[in-house]
Amino acid sequence: MASPETKSNIFLRALPDGGEARRAPRAPETLGAYPRVRMRRNRTDAWTRRLVAEARLSVDDLIWPVFVQDTDGETEVQSMPGVKRYGLDRLVDAVGPVAAAGMPAVALFPNIDPALRTPDAAEAANPDNLVCQAIRAVKAAYPDLGVICDVALDPFNSDGHDGLVRDGRILNDETVEVLCRQALVQAEAGCDVIAPSDMMDGRIGAIRAALDAAGLDEIKILAYSAKYASAFYGPFRDAVGSGGMLTGDKKTYQMDPANSDEALREVALDLEEGADMVMVKPGLPYLDVVRRIKETFAVPTMVYQVSGEYAMLKAAALQGWLDNDKVVMESLLAFKRAGADAILTYTAPEAARLLKAG
Ligand code: PBG
Repeated sequence: MASPETKSNIFLRALPDGGEARRAPRAPETLGAYPRVRMRRNRTDAWTRRLVAEARLSVDDLIWPVFVQDTDGETEVQSMPGVKRYGLDRLVDAVGPVAAAGMPAVALFPNIDPALRTPDAAEAANPDNLVCQAIRAVKAAYPDLGVICDVALDPFNSDGHDGLVRDGRILNDETVEVLCRQALVQAEAGCDVIAPSDMMDGRIGAIRAALDAAGLDEIKILAYSAKYASAFYGPFRDAVGSGGMLTGDKKTYQMDPANSDEALREVALDLEEGADMVMVKPGLPYLDVVRRIKETFAVPTMVYQVSGEYAMLKAAALQGWLDNDKVVMESLLAFKRAGADAILTYTAPEAARLLKAG
């Protein structure tokens, strides 16, 4: 039978120094063989903890996703306590605090009139659609704030799908043509970062070519590369009004939650096609994917703490079961530890406040 010491040596050998540093002369009985090892030393004082902290979160790491509606005023999103949809009359004011906090960017998501949602998603490519109007309003008010927009058809499609649907199938190449037109109107309206979230094959290369051909070569592409077919998007679909319309599920284009090798292939292809940044989505349940992507490719890697993750935190906090401020900050720090460069999160405004308060 292995002695406890032999067993622990197996683990120590895995350390960079082969466990040398931890091997010490025989110790007081109660401490066994390792009396000099005191992991707690570096945790003694707040200043030591700060000094040895490996990951840090700052306002520079945050992107606020904002919902825009086509009627004036604002509407609470029922399944996302504290999150609202803003009309164009309210949007600029709503973005004010995050712009003032120095947050690098916001991401705009439209909720359009259901009557404008059609099988061909034509409204997606209308240069005066809701999202284009929102882009122009935000850029006019805050020229130094980055604006990011999804490229996908679900807010515009009567099927609630990210692509065009024919006979129950999602059409890839036909969809990509519409996505290119959608990307162009958004970029012409002043969007800085085009973020295809549709998961069609080949869309990054096609959109890059379309932007370049239109002289929009400075517009960045943030590819939702590892986007999983997730149940955590439920509250978002309520917020943009696509949930009730969705027929079936998105499993023929979004990724299987079982896979992470496949995420590396998706990222490799998107980078080859010209993506400037890549994204993993959802966030907390997929931290392993963030880590693998960052380590494999060493490119700007974003993570999206999605609507369902937000709803989970808020539901528990509202019950008094979790400390809201602490779980918000801990979850955001976890993304940084996993290797994320930036985080899309509905908690961005409160996180900015908490960071400022220290
Ligand atoms: C649409 C899109 C979705 C999200 C971002 N863009 C939903 C989906 O793919 O069904 C989800 C964001 C969230 O849940 O917060 N393509």
